[in-house]
Order: sequence, then C-alpha cells, then structure tokens
Amino acid sequence: MCGIVGYVGRQSAAPILFEGLQHLEYRGYDSAGIAVLDRDGALAVLKREGKLRDLEASLTEMPRGSAGIGHTRWATHGPPSERNAHPHTSAAGEVIVVQNGIVENYRELRAELEPGLAASGRSWQSDTDTEVIPELIARALADGLSFRDALAQAVGRLRGANAVAAVYRREPGRIYAARQGSAGGIIVGFGEDEMFLASDLPALLRHTTSVYHLEDGDIAEIDADGVLVSRGGAPSFAPQPTQVNLDPVAVARGPYRHFMLKEIHEQPRALSDTIRGRARLSPPRALPADLTFSELALRNIERVLVIGMGTSLHAAMIGRWWIEQIAGIPADFDNASEFRFRAPLLGPSTLVVSVTQSGETIDTLGAISHVRERWDAPQLTITNVEGSEATRQADASIVLRCGPEIGVASTKTFVGSLAALYLLACRLGHAQGRLSDAELSGRLEDLLTAPSLVERGLQLSDRCASVMRQFTAASNFLVLGRGIEYPLAMEAALKCKEISYVHAEGYAAGEMKHGPIALLDDGFPVIALAPRGPLFDKMMSAIQQVRARAAPVIAVGDAGDAELDELVDHFIGVPPTSALLTPFSLSPVIQLLAYHIALARGLDIDQPRNLAKTVTVE
Ligand code: F6R
Repeated sequence: MCGIVGYVGRQSAAPILFEGLQHLEYRGYDSAGIAVLDRDGALAVLKREGKLRDLEASLTEMPRGSAGIGHTRWATHGPPSERNAHPHTSAAGEVIVVQNGIVENYRELRAELEPGLAASGRSWQSDTDTEVIPELIARALADGLSFRDALAQAVGRLRGANAVAAVYRREPGRIYAARQGSAGGIIVGFGEDEMFLASDLPALLRHTTSVYHLEDGDIAEIDADGVLVSRGGAPSFAPQPTQVNLDPVAVARGPYRHFMLKEIHEQPRALSDTIRGRARLSPPRALPADLTFSELALRNIERVLVIGMGTSLHAAMIGRWWIEQIAGIPADFDNASEFRFRAPLLGPSTLVVSVTQSGETIDTLGAISHVRERWDAPQLTITNVEGSEATRQADASIVLRCGPEIGVASTKTFVGSLAALYLLACRLGHAQGRLSDAELSGRLEDLLTAPSLVERGLQLSDRCASVMRQFTAASNFLVLGRGIEYPLAMEAALKCKEISYVHAEGYAAGEMKHGPIALLDDGFPVIALAPRGPLFDKMMSAIQQVRARAAPVIAVGDAGDAELDELVDHFIGVPPTSALLTPFSLSPVIQLLAYHIALARGLDIDQPRNLAKTVTVE
C-alpha cells in the first residue's frame, strides 16, 4: 500500500532515499516524506502532498545526513495532505517513524496516550493511525527501555499488519525496522559500509542484490556495518543475506511511454517464462516440479475452489472454466474478501487455489488462513513473488516468473496466472485419469501456442488506438462476453475503470436483456468479445439486440470473420484459436483498448488515482 525506504552509511541519505521512493511510487503516490539525521542527531524532515516530483523540488534544501527513512503514502486514515504525510514524530521530537499497514486499534491507543500528551501541552499533529507509534515508543523509552525494546514493545501493542521503520535522534548512525504480520514485506539490503531498507526489491537493485526479508515479528537494528535481528525473546542474530537474481533493467521503463505498455508488450516472454519446464511433452507431464502434493492426493481431489481479488479473481473465473472442461472436476471461484467471512463447506478433498500476483493481498491472505484454520484442505497459491506471504502460507506454490510488474494495472501477471491455471487443469485431469497421455500432450501443445497468440494480439495496438480515439468522450461502456469470454469482459471493464476512469460494466451477454439493455442508446458503446466458438451464435443474437437499440458496437472476433465485421461498427480481428485458448488471444486486445482510451484522455496510466499496486489493507 505505502512504500518505505531507509538508508544508513557514508553517503548523503536524502538523494538515496528519494531515488528508492521513485521505485516504490507504484505502491502509493498521494504524499511523500523523508527524515534524515546527521552525525550529531540533528533532524531534518521534508514532507509534501502529491507526487514525488513535488518533494523533489525541495530536496536540495535537505541537509547532509547519513541515516534516514522515507515514505510514499496511499491514504488510509486522513486525507492526502502534508500534515498526514509520513514520517511522523513523537511529541518531544525524538522518535521518527514511517509505517505501512493499518493500526486497527489506533483509537484505543490514542485514547490511552492522550492524557499524557495533553499534560505536556501537546496534541496530535495528524489524522493518521501512524502517529500513535512514535508516541508509544517514546513512552517505552521513558520507562527506561532501549530503543530496540521500546520499538518491539510498541509494535507488539498494535493490532493489524504493519511494517515500520524508525530513527531515534539519540542514535544517529542507526535505523530500525519492524514487521508485524503481512504488510507487504520489508527488506534489508546489504552494501559496502552502507545498508538499505525497502518495502520492495526495485528500490534496492541499483545498490545491492544481497538482501534479507524480515519475517513476521522481526525487529532489525541496522547500522552502516550490518544488521542485527531480534525475534521473540531469543538473542539477536546477524542474518545471512540471500542473493536476488533480478536485473535492474527489469524494473526500468526503457523506451516505453508507460510501465503498463512495457508490461503488456513483455507478455509473450513472460508467458514463455511461466510455461518453461512446466509443459513437458514426452513423456507428457504438466507442472512436473511445482505441485508438491502426492499423486494420491491429486487423485483424491473431488472439488477445486479458486479464489482471488480484482484481476486475479477474473483469472480464477477462467481457471474454474478450464478445471471443469479439461480436468472434469467440479470447480468454483470466489471473491477472497467475501469467502473469508462465509462458512462454505470444504473438506480434505477440496483443493483451494489462491491467485495473487503480489502474494501479499490482505483479502486473499485472510482467505488462505480462513481455510487453514477451519478445514484440512490442501492449498496451492499462484503468485509472481517468490517468498511472498502467500507462498509461506500455502502448501504448494506456482511462481509465475513474469518479472516485476510495476504498472498498477495487472497485465502480464494476468496472462501468467492463466497459464498456471491451465497447466493445473491439465495436471489434475491427467492425475485423475480423465486425460490420456495423448490428450494431455495435445492440451500442452495448444498451450505452447499461447505466447505467439499474445504476440499477434500485440500487433493490434494501432488498431485499438484508432478505434478508442473515437470514444474518448464516452462516459460508459458495456463489455459483453459469454462462456470463457465472460470473465474477460469483466477484466476489460475493470481495466477501463481503473486506468481510464470510464464507467464500464462487464456482463455475461445472456444477462444483458435482463436489465442492462435499458441503458443502451446511441451514446452508450458496447464492446463485444465474440470469437468463433460454441456460444458464437448466442453472442451474435446479443449483438443484434444491441444494434437494435442503436448503441455503437466494437467487436473483438476472429480475424477474417466477415459476418461479424459487417454487423458491427468497429471490428478488431484477433488470431483464431481453439475455444479454450481465447483468453490468450483476447487479453492483449482488452488491455490495449483500456490503455489507449486512457492515453487519449491524457491520464496518468501507471499511477491511476486512488489505487495502489499491493493492497495490504482491508
Ligand atoms: C487490477 C489489479 C487489481 C489486483 C488485485 C489483486 O489491474 O491489479 O485488481 O488484481 O488487487 O491483487 P493480487 O493479484 O496481488 O492479489
């Protein structure tokens, strides 16, 4: 949700913190701030409402100091403003804190701390939940605790998932960090006579690939020479760094105008990387290494439940379709945030599959623990982030290998998740004897065409741009699909909403006549996903009904489909493929349609308003 950075070393901290924040701006971008301590403990704090560029202008005013922390915010408590921007400081000005997460019991803590504050003639300086943290630390310091113990005690009093970084004016050569629950993670980076801290790897890669991921409950005490971690009551230890295998180029925008566009174009490679080694043709085998369940366990699965949120939920819906069609196993999908508060009937023969590109989405993690606490059901997670919380909580993982996704709108991780779900359906079908070797081979050969389907879809970018330019002023879109294209219609509508701010609804085409049709007139464009397949004729009927209300139709169908082309106002022809593979041929086009309307409207595509890449708050 928010991004945290930290630095301690010999260099001037402010520019390093700022550069780190630039790589985390995808996590939050409504305000930002930096605090730096010099050798004598003199403190400088700079905060600005708005994007990082608003902070940059004042960066030169920051004094040189070789330890500091920084933050880019996605507002939860209190509107975006300089007053609510982090860092937050204790009333006496000694303790400085940045936080990612939510202090769920902040009202109680404020009430407890208020009399003390009032007695010293002070009051709260912000509307945030964060501000209780420096105050709690200051109280514990006043009770005689060391800073590390005071931080541990303060964090121990917070309810919710939180990552915290702090500096203390009496210890100017040190920064501290704490992780409680899953709040999007916090990583320590190891340099030569300098150390770094960040919520995510892209902020570290320019400096180091040697890292340590803090675990739940860890308190880290960091100076220029290294880090000491304390966990529970055990003695502190110096953790061994691990090496990350990520190229800084992977997190650079390169020649592309937006990260989203770069990531849309990376999809053929990302898909190939997801599939690599997982679609073995002879002897045929899907996912030979990732599913750590026994063959017996796979044979005994009687039902599959696929859960996720947003784009990952749409992938889950398509996964359900494949699991039913390819594996012949009863399957359902569910929205993780709803599922976790229901009492569905699961058991040891239900496989629960969570889809989460970040592996840190709180609703999905909540659903994973809901399953673990109540049922003895096996759990598989599909994620792009190795070592993420979802991989720690589930019994087995499929890591997508799509490379970092920086654009807030998920694109390449969507098609990566699709490939993983397709492979899962193949593996389950084969394990349960519903797919013969030859059938499995055929399904896998089909999947191997997916990268080229996507590649050919990307060549339609100019066509998508020229169509969408004609709808720049539209305030609404209805997106229709049937069968496996219905979740894609929902995904297309979600993409339009999030990056173009156009109201769009994804509907099952058969449902249109049960209500939404009342909206249609000549100013209400409809996007119809209509490749040739078992439900094509029904899609054609729905399109006729739309045409009869004079609504303009943009159809995405099989290239060369003259009948469809003639019927609609705008036709975009994707490479024809088998009925089960249309999610791969259509995905790049639905993403490009949304991208180009946002571009024509001049919007901030990589940082749409109100959104954040990793949703670690409820
Ligand atoms: C849409 C988008 C979000 C995410 C959702 C789940 O483009 O990115 O809807 O799909 O927040 O995130 P993950 O997949 O990280 O669980």
